Amino acid sequence: MTKAVADPIAAAEHARLIAAIRAHDRRYYEDDAPSVSDAEYDALVARAEALEKLFPALRDGSPTQAVGGAPAGRFAKVRHSRPLLSLEKAFTPEDVRGFVAEVKRFLRLAEDEPVAFYVEPKIDGLSLALRYQEGRLVLGATRGDGTVGETVTANVATIADIPQHLGGDVPAVLEVRGEVYMTKADFLALNRRQAEAGIAPFANPRNAAAGSLRQLDPAVTAARPLRFFVHGWGEVSTALPPTQGETMAWLGGLGLPLNPLSRCAADVDAVLALFAALETGRADLAYDIDGVVYKIDRLDWQERLGLRHKAPRWAIAHKFAAERAITRLEAIDIQVGRTGALTPVARLEPVGVGGVVVANATLHNEDEIARKDLRIGDLVVIQRAGDVIPQIVAVLADRRQGDPPRYVFPDHCPVCGAAALREEGEVVRRCTGGLTCDAQLVERLRHFVSRAAFDIEGLGEKQVRALWDWGLVHGPADIFTLAARDKTAAEPLRQRDGWGDLSAANLFQAIEARRRVPLARFLFALGIRHVGERNAQLVARHFGSFAALSEALLATPETRAAALAELQTVDGIGPIVVEALEQFFAEPHNRRTVADLAELLTIEDPEARATESPVAGKTVVFTGSLERFTRDEAKARAEALGAKVSGSVSKKTDLVVAGPGAGSKLAQAAALGVTVLSEDDWLALVGG
Ligand code: IVH
Repeated sequence: MTKAVADPIAAAEHARLIAAIRAHDRRYYEDDAPSVSDAEYDALVARAEALEKLFPALRDGSPTQAVGGAPAGRFAKVRHSRPLLSLEKAFTPEDVRGFVAEVKRFLRLAEDEPVAFYVEPKIDGLSLALRYQEGRLVLGATRGDGTVGETVTANVATIADIPQHLGGDVPAVLEVRGEVYMTKADFLALNRRQAEAGIAPFANPRNAAAGSLRQLDPAVTAARPLRFFVHGWGEVSTALPPTQGETMAWLGGLGLPLNPLSRCAADVDAVLALFAALETGRADLAYDIDGVVYKIDRLDWQERLGLRHKAPRWAIAHKFAAERAITRLEAIDIQVGRTGALTPVARLEPVGVGGVVVANATLHNEDEIARKDLRIGDLVVIQRAGDVIPQIVAVLADRRQGDPPRYVFPDHCPVCGAAALREEGEVVRRCTGGLTCDAQLVERLRHFVSRAAFDIEGLGEKQVRALWDWGLVHGPADIFTLAARDKTAAEPLRQRDGWGDLSAANLFQAIEARRRVPLARFLFALGIRHVGERNAQLVARHFGSFAALSEALLATPETRAAALAELQTVDGIGPIVVEALEQFFAEPHNRRTVADLAELLTIEDPEARATESPVAGKTVVFTGSLERFTRDEAKARAEALGAKVSGSVSKKTDLVVAGPGAGSKLAQAAALGVTVLSEDDWLALVGG
């Protein structure tokens, strides 16, 4: 019995699989533009491997066989020891002064207290985390989603700027973060080589750097001239000097590459002068920069300032002015969002702006169109600032030919035909079709499965729309019954246009994987107006479990009113959010949707953020004019330690922290027998 390919059908299938894997590899590694999910890709590889097990001769030259030592497939995932953060943005000197004022307010610094900064160019590359143990490079990881990245250690080892070994007095563990980039000259040369080889060029140096770092074969990365600057650190096993500047200098002393244009600045005027100099000199630099980053120099202040959502409070990216271009307005389309808002979108003759092709721009609302007197066929100036959606900043009305008609904004929904009304004082016109408007329902579904909500892989805009059009999914709960219904369906999903065995199976698997969902994500996914990620988290933490929430909000109008009145005492939750929740839960259809979903899902309780701390799970109220810290700082600290911060005293309050001049809340605390702490008591309790 020969081991050769006995079965021509298997050989043919294997050949198809290999061609598909190769094509996906190219899109993923070379174009940095994958067209299938990791799960779909893995399934292709698994199937090819299964065939090779049966017919080992198929292994010859198969991409499933190790390339450069790595198994076929994607890079291994790795959890960062501390998340890689993003940065808030400033666009004007006023924004920067506002940032500094906010820092001073948060830290309760005097107006004239000097605040120094560490200033460095914002490199337009991609972030990379490096881990050194006993001075030896042991891990290189991409940013990924900030929490989990991809291991690219072998590729990192080919970057000349990155030392394999650090010198001097090295700590046991040192993690640094920085930016991988490609110089403009190297980018142009690489694109010339690509063109000669008949391969599509990269759009800009950033894409070229990203595509080069994420190569399965390190030899390819080695042939691409990548460079690196350090801009921060993660876990470090030794005590650091007191400032950013000194810490960076220490990292430089260990042999890590620092950007030579980085400077310390004594105040905001010095910061802005550095910005102006970098903006002027930008074109002459060997590499692209897209702004300047300012970091509060003192590390103890950085520590106190902490994080706001995903970006630190102690740093800001001051972006350079947006790039502009002139093009023609071809049409104005109206999109209907999940709340029924009619949003005009400009369709443009495609034009390149700062390395990307722009064909659409936001027009905000109907007043904006009227104010600009925008007419179809006009030449317009568009601008793109960073990752912000392109905008139309001016109309070249003097270049207009003839007198095209003024644009009339529709007063009916272009999707369902219901009246589109604009309420007093509102800038937005909304479709009144509500749950009868397909656009709103489809948009709600899209939101429901989106990344920050249920995050169902393989359910993008196109797929949601198709499932809707085929009548397979009318509401969110239908998503979780899809697989069961499909088993007995006359026309199962795998036989439908655009689907196959693999993609259908993968979708069902991806849906299954999301049957467990944290309460905050669940709430966010419902798409309640004004309930974004942050508010969803506050509401989830307040109720503590889905059971408690449903008991309060789904039972009777009375329980709901009482619960919402109490919710309003949560710091950060205002009357608008409470009103939106009331409107949502007052609607029987919505209550049914929530109850249906709960039947199909396991909704996880929010984690208390820190269970070890003495204030974990406690409800705390700060009152009076605090002197030792600002209210924002106190609140951020308390929440980080797992406490709930409330704005008013009730019998549910555990602690009241009172500064001088505390009035009625103090009296109320006394009346209810709630423990009252001074600011010093509080600091002693939470460890200074
Ligand atoms: S600091 C703690 N400094 O910009 C803040 N980031 O928009 C984390 N970047 O993900 C980064 N140059 O990849 C910092 N000098 C610089 C930077 C820089 C480029 C990137 C970085 C970050 C992104 C945020």
